Amino acid sequence: MSRIWAVCSGSGGVGKTTIALALAVGAARAGRRVILLDASGAARSADLILGMESVMVLDLADVSGGEVSLESALYPAPRHSGLRFASASLYDGTPLEAVSGAMLALQSLCDVLVVDLPTGHAGISRGLMGREDELLMITRPDDASVRACERLMQRARRERAGLSLVLNRTRKDFLRKGVYMDASAIAMLLDCPVLGAVPEDDSICYGVKKGRSAIECDGPARSALSGILDQLLGRA
Ligand SMILES: Nc1ncnc2c1ncn2[C@@H]1O[C@H](COP(=O)(O)OP(=O)(O)OP(=O)(O)O)[C@@H](O)[C@H]1O
Ligand SMILES: [Mg+2]
Repeated sequence: MSRIWAVCSGSGGVGKTTIALALAVGAARAGRRVILLDASGAARSADLILGMESVMVLDLADVSGGEVSLESALYPAPRHSGLRFASASLYDGTPLEAVSGAMLALQSLCDVLVVDLPTGHAGISRGLMGREDELLMITRPDDASVRACERLMQRARRERAGLSLVLNRTRKDFLRKGVYMDASAIAMLLDCPVLGAVPEDDSICYGVKKGRSAIECDGPARSALSGILDQLLGRA
C-alpha cells in the first residue's frame, strides 16, 4: 500500500524542499518506488537541485485537463533509480484540489508519494490523506517560525494523517544563548511529537550546487535525516 509523506510549514524558507528531497532520495535508495510531487508552485526549487528545470514541461494540471497521460508528466530523476519527479502546476498556480484526481492516480504508481507543499498549506486535498500517511511540519527553532507553525497546526489537525514536527537548522550555540527553543519545549508548546532535529549544515548549500540532496551530503544533517527516514520507513 502506498503512503503519502506531505511536507509543510507555517513560514517560508525553513527547509521544506530540502527535507522533502532528502526523504525522497533516501527512500528511493532504500529500494522504494518514490514519486516526489512538487506542489510548491512559483517557489519550486527541487527541479533546479535535481537538474531537471529544462526537462519539466508537463504537470498534473495538464493531466487533469485530459490533455496528456499521467506517465508523460512523470520524469525520472537523473542519478536516482526508483525516484520520479512530478509537478502539480508549473505555470499558473492551479490549486491542489483541482489536481487531486491525478494525485490519487500517482499513488498507485509508487510506494511513497512525497509532496513538497507550499508555505501555509497544511494538507493536500480533502480526503486524500489517510491514517497511514504522514504530515511533516518543518520549523526552525526560533520564535517567529514556531509561532507560524502554531497557527498552521489548527488546520493540520483536521487532516487524518499522522502529524509530526521536524526541526531544521538547529544550532547548539543559539540554544545555549536562548535564541532558539529546544525540541522538548517546542513539542510541549505545539502538543506535537518531534520526529527529528536537523542541524545547521553548510554542506547542504555546497551540495545543492552539485545537484546533491541533503541526505547525500557529508555533514551533520545526514545522520539526522537518516534517522527521520528510518522512522518513516519503519511505519510504512
Ligand atoms: N539544515 C540546513 N542547514 C543549512 N542550510 C539549510 C538547511 N536546510 C535548508 N537549508 C538551506 O536553506 C534554504 C531554504 O531551504 P528550502 O528551499 O528547503 O526551504 P523551503 O521551506 O522549501 O523554502 P520555500 O518556502 O521558498 O519553498 C536553502 O538555501 C537550503 O539549502
Ligand atoms: Mg521550497
